[in-house]
Amino acid sequence: MNVLLLGSGGREHALAWKLAKSPLIGQFYAMPGNPGIADVAEAVEGVPLSAHQTIVSWCQAHAIELVVVGPEAPLVAGLVDRLKEAGIPAFGPTAAAARLEGSKLFTKELCRENGIPTAAFARFSSAPEAAAYVRSTGAPIVVKADGLMAGKGVVVALNIEEAISAVEGVFAAGGQEVLIEEFMEGEEASLFCLVDGETVIPFGSAQDHKRAFDGDLGPNTGGMGAYSPAPVLTADLEAQAIREIVVPTARAMAALGAPYSGILYAGLMLTATGPKLVEYNCRFGDPECQVLMPRLDSDLLPILAAAATGRLAETEVKWSDRSALTVVYASRGYPGAHQTGTEIGGLEAANEVEGVTVFLAGTKKSGSKLLANGGRVLNVTATGETLQEARDRAYDAAARIKWSGGFYRQDIGWRALK
Ligand code: AMP
Ligand code: GLY
Repeated sequence: MNVLLLGSGGREHALAWKLAKSPLIGQFYAMPGNPGIADVAEAVEGVPLSAHQTIVSWCQAHAIELVVVGPEAPLVAGLVDRLKEAGIPAFGPTAAAARLEGSKLFTKELCRENGIPTAAFARFSSAPEAAAYVRSTGAPIVVKADGLMAGKGVVVALNIEEAISAVEGVFAAGGQEVLIEEFMEGEEASLFCLVDGETVIPFGSAQDHKRAFDGDLGPNTGGMGAYSPAPVLTADLEAQAIREIVVPTARAMAALGAPYSGILYAGLMLTATGPKLVEYNCRFGDPECQVLMPRLDSDLLPILAAAATGRLAETEVKWSDRSALTVVYASRGYPGAHQTGTEIGGLEAANEVEGVTVFLAGTKKSGSKLLANGGRVLNVTATGETLQEARDRAYDAAARIKWSGGFYRQDIGWRALK
């Protein structure tokens, strides 16, 4: 099967690493890929992922039989719609189904109409009305902008002043509407499900660390580390979340004429009254994908192909009992301003540690040198019989990497190991 993978992050390196192991794979291309992905797939550079028609024509010219879309932006923008119109199977939802990530309001209304557990909410199209509401409810309270905000559209306000200034910020930035949510208390966990219409297959769980610094302090990032499985998401809680949240969502999307296809990533809050939905993403998590792939015993390619062609119900998925943990090695200064172009060494020594694979994210090659080329640069990933073993291996490997321009957290997994 000829496959094209879209994206250039650590998530895509993990997908490429796993897909390349498939005995079914034929020509394997990545657009644009990165130096890690280029070890297992042929890099196709110079085509922006927003150039949908160019991608469709390229797939036709290269007899592509499956397109795997890594990031959310092309999904929300309708790339899968264009590929399907051209008869090219693609893993990922159509634009109408990707609204589950693209529009928080769409998802909140869908939850309300279908009795799906989530934080109570109200929506306002003017700042004074929203401010009056905040004053009447009090804090803590959560203020959200609609649309794809790369994680930056959410303020968990601890007092009323902070909430009102967040509301004003949304409208000042050109927002038309603001969403005010009840503050949910509990531990967060991520649940991944493969979905194909009304078929839902659990596809692993994880927890990540969003803050930049040890102790879960500092600014929010795309994720500084993750581990799988998430011990807090017990088998009972996972079954409850699938029954009460994911399955009703899949049914509701099908009933709307926008059946979901692809991976549905549910961000859950495990509250005293059961799991509640925080948000959906329409793609694999980054770096959560990096801890799912090393635990997957099944061949990934036929699974993604089945989801893309409406045959998921016939598919079996096998997981190993091992745990996995990844440490993100980021450029100093991330998520703020940071230098790029600093040299990275020691990857071979890191990859020699038992159970370790270093996935590459924001990197580029200059001759034989590997250089940092982004905020999140390396994902030092390890498996182990236990989470503790995976963590020890990952940190042993991270210490072997020679990169003066980077930093990483020393406490990934602390919640699960405390
Ligand atoms: P989101 O982009 O919707 O996932 O929100 C980002 C983060 O804000 C989540 O991972 C939570 O930590 C927090 N958050 C969002 N909504 C709520 C809520 N209603 N109650 C408590 N925390 C929330
Ligand atoms: N690590 C969070 C995300 O991928 O959205």
